[in-house]
Amino acid sequence: MAPRPEGTRHPRLLAVLGDPVEHSLSPPMHNAAFRATGLPFTYIAVRVGPGELRRAVDALRVLGARGANVTVPHKEAAAQLAEWLSAEAREAGAVNTLVFEEGRVLGYSTDGAGFCRALDEVAHFDPAGRRVVLLGAGGAARAVALALAARGAAAVRVVNRTQERARALVERILASGRGTEARACPWPQDTPGWEDVLRGGDLVVQATSLGLARSGPDPWRDLPFQVTAGTALATDLIYGPGGSPFLRAAARAGLRTLAGDWMLLYQGAEAFRLWTGVEAPVALMRSVLDRLLKGGSDVGKAHGAHLSG
Ligand SMILES: NC(=O)c1ccc[n+]([C@@H]2O[C@H](COP(=O)([O-])OP(=O)(O)OC[C@H]3O[C@@H](n4cnc5c(N)ncnc54)[C@H](OP(=O)(O)O)[C@@H]3O)[C@@H](O)[C@H]2O)c1
Repeated sequence: MAPRPEGTRHPRLLAVLGDPVEHSLSPPMHNAAFRATGLPFTYIAVRVGPGELRRAVDALRVLGARGANVTVPHKEAAAQLAEWLSAEAREAGAVNTLVFEEGRVLGYSTDGAGFCRALDEVAHFDPAGRRVVLLGAGGAARAVALALAARGAAAVRVVNRTQERARALVERILASGRGTEARACPWPQDTPGWEDVLRGGDLVVQATSLGLARSGPDPWRDLPFQVTAGTALATDLIYGPGGSPFLRAAARAGLRTLAGDWMLLYQGAEAFRLWTGVEAPVALMRSVLDRLLKGGSDVGKAHGAHLSG
């Protein structure tokens, strides 16, 4: 287990840093796991505005924190800030887990492993040889794309609003040398455009933050999922009470679906192990998520702090 600083009586701090972050179920999930294992940590959500990540990380270090999770929109900035990167984080150029170790900031990416564990254990979907349609090219999308390439995906179509970012991810996939084909696609403006990008896909991954705010019109309602492969699986990294509009639209078209809270669980379990050196109590963490997602609790607010520029 990670050592506690000399003289510390209180639990060591961990935090998820992002904007928005109020929706995050990481605080109750991790705090339940710390209570169950008797480990001396406490985990909070802190809203960190654009350009404020370094200030937030410095503040956590002053407070003697053990580390942090980093979420939208800071994963790429976290990779720049870390003084050491794991192989996965270096390849993806994105960090979702920071560990503060002997005065250094270590950066890890547990998103790809968490995503693939959910594919394996929950959806029983082997990505080897499959065609992936990936919506998004941000920090989470990068980690997922590189993990899928490492698992032998045949092709990844990167569909992103900002083409430069899509092209940068394609370059990373090709540079990984796994033999995965990769192509950047513009964000479609109409149904025929969506048919072109979705056609023949075996796995459709929604990895943008579009819809995270849960207000306004449903952007996914009319997506022509029926042009995907007959046995296609759809997954949305966004999770929350009431489920995902993206997955509801996919299910209406007959696709199998995998909810993003499974990725949350498994990426969190890996982060827990990095901070504590102890295997995470996954079944207990799953039961916490089930309770909160079913209950529709606005739990993030109760745990949230706010730091924005
Ligand atoms: N379930 C889990 O465990 C888990 C883990 C990680 C992340 N996530 C979720 O995954 C999502 C992405 O996270 P991230 O860290 O990758 O964020 P990020 O680095 O900020 O990337 C955001 C992505 O969303 C796209 N986007 C944002 N607004 C859009 C809009 N109005 N129309 C089209 N595209 C839009 C961005 O496109 P541009 O490049 O054009 O800006 C970019 O591709 C978030 O919702 C996050 O909560 C879930």
